[in-house]
Amino acid sequence: GRVGVLLGGRSGEREISLMSGNGVLEALLSKGVNAHAFDTGLRCPTELSQEKFDRVFISLHGRYGEDGTIQGLLELLNLPYTGSGVLASALAIDKIVTKQIWLSNHLSTPQYEELTAKSDWNAVAQHLGLPLIVKPANEGSSLGLTKVRTVEELPAAYQLAAGLDKKVIAETCIIGDELTCPIVGEGENAEALPVIKIVPPEANYDFHHKYFSDETKYLCPTGLAPEVNLAVQELVVAAYRALGCRTWGRADVMLDQKTGKPYLLEMNTSPGMTSHSLVPMAAKASGVEYADLVLWILGTTLK
Ligand code: DAL
Ligand code: MG
Repeated sequence: GRVGVLLGGRSGEREISLMSGNGVLEALLSKGVNAHAFDTGLRCPTELSQEKFDRVFISLHGRYGEDGTIQGLLELLNLPYTGSGVLASALAIDKIVTKQIWLSNHLSTPQYEELTAKSDWNAVAQHLGLPLIVKPANEGSSLGLTKVRTVEELPAAYQLAAGLDKKVIAETCIIGDELTCPIVGEGENAEALPVIKIVPPEANYDFHHKYFSDETKYLCPTGLAPEVNLAVQELVVAAYRALGCRTWGRADVMLDQKTGKPYLLEMNTSPGMTSHSLVPMAAKASGVEYADLVLWILGTTLK
């Protein structure tokens, strides 16, 4: 069959998606799969109907790729695709809706508020404490994210995030280890891969350190106590099930250094597959090479 690799797209994470998609494409070609790139940022996605693909691998990140829109189009075209469906994708892209679902399932996530131009900055700082994190509700890769240390910095942080998204979220900054953990499968069969601990050279694991720096250290195994790793894995699997995700995803987590309690930050339903990305790293730690991971993900479209 003919496989389409959807990449590029038109979100703020376009460049990252090109790196992910080219990695996936190369891996598929190396395994003898008849795969072709399709850039949904350069071509109208409705042209997918003329491509005669049998199924597609979604390597898009952010809006119009990870948010249920392209998934909806693919449903209409009756074209099998990798990853979560329309609803889970649409829920997980929005960090506020995601938190509401997690909280209603009693899963721990930092306290938050939706910010507007009319927010009372002092009240926000009082409620969430300082430092706090301000970010667009629907972006990825730390784009538009600010760690706010004083009330005076809040309006500018809001403006930066609001420039990228209509919806802006502020959340309590959990101080401690930054962790991430991939999940594979669906429903009762969902399971976590090994947890990764991220150690950036400075306190912030930002866009640059995510993709372009070799100074960030990734620890897998994390070196944390086995029961802590297990608690994180249980939390992310519950978080994944609560959103109704399928095939694969990756949850980002902060471990409170004071209490040792893990907090969910977000769920990525189309995680990065770049050379610096984390799902390939965790898969490798459990003995699965990049190309085999890609083949496995693609294989889930055959049911
Ligand atoms: N949003 C990026 C692509 C990631 O989480 O890997
Ligand atoms: Mg993300």
